[in-house]
Amino acid sequence: MNTIINKINKLKKEKNAIILGHFYESPEVQEISDFIGDSLALAQKAQKTDADIIVFAGVLFMAETAKILYPDKKVLLPDLNAGCSLADSCEENKFKKFLMLHPDRYVISYVNTSAKIKALSDCICTSSNAIKIVKSVPIDKKIIFGPDKNLGTYVKKSTNRDILLWDGACHVHKRFSAEKIKQLKKKYPNAKIISHPECEASVLEISDFIDSTSGLLKYTNRVEYNEFIIATEPGIIYQMQKANPEKLYIAAPSFEEENNICEYMKMCTLTNIYNSLKEEKFEINLEENLINKARGSILKMLEISNKLKL
Ligand code: 13P
Ligand code: SF4
Repeated sequence: MNTIINKINKLKKEKNAIILGHFYESPEVQEISDFIGDSLALAQKAQKTDADIIVFAGVLFMAETAKILYPDKKVLLPDLNAGCSLADSCEENKFKKFLMLHPDRYVISYVNTSAKIKALSDCICTSSNAIKIVKSVPIDKKIIFGPDKNLGTYVKKSTNRDILLWDGACHVHKRFSAEKIKQLKKKYPNAKIISHPECEASVLEISDFIDSTSGLLKYTNRVEYNEFIIATEPGIIYQMQKANPEKLYIAAPSFEEENNICEYMKMCTLTNIYNSLKEEKFEINLEENLINKARGSILKMLEISNKLKL
């Protein structure tokens, strides 16, 4: 184990590379990452880094976002199969047709989308800035929000805006069961239910706190409560435990017996990070035209987020 870690660190130095990792990655991948964060923080970091190579310990849409922001940098994804069910729930031609039916609407797309969907959007958002991005749109402007219906419903309720939703979802977050969480709460009556806004409305309704992955982490840090039921991918629990090991973190149960692991996020391993750095694979390449079309909507989000100090 140590040898592969040493080899990765050596290659990072030699090649002036940086590893950006998401909170859903395995503990060892989080540990080897130079920076870990939620989707917004990762995009902001990609915008600022002076590294020549960015290895993305995350999923394809995150690596594409980095490439769009910095087309001259080499952006690598250790496994090209690391996709996202939510991004896949929004196919370009179908989305185009949907937009054509509502040409007057301002299009806000969640960052969990392909570059092609970003190119069709006016502004991007992540779960940590979605409400603020919607609020930044002039009040008389009607909005289309895609692809996550759950996040969209939550944002619509929180802002009271005229928002038309795309019917997409994340296979991990839609599996959480409100009924099973209520049962669990009986066993742990003092536990706070904290959820990612990609969960179904039935789960969000019984939640004490709703936010992005970094928002959930900050919450467990700042509050005095000691027990939490966590309705998001359980990879985040590693950072919670590191910050406050004395607290109790319980992964929320899903409808079926299977757990709520995002298999895409777990495709990144120390071995493929090492191979990725060594052989400089798999490089994210997007057509220049697509990069130019998609960049505006991401920059718009970053500009609003920076202004609001998010
Ligand atoms: P965050 O932006 O909250 O990290 O969420 C990313 C994601 O993929 C959630 O499933
Ligand atoms: Fe996509 Fe869901 Fe995995 Fe997040 S948890 S990367 S939304 S499939």
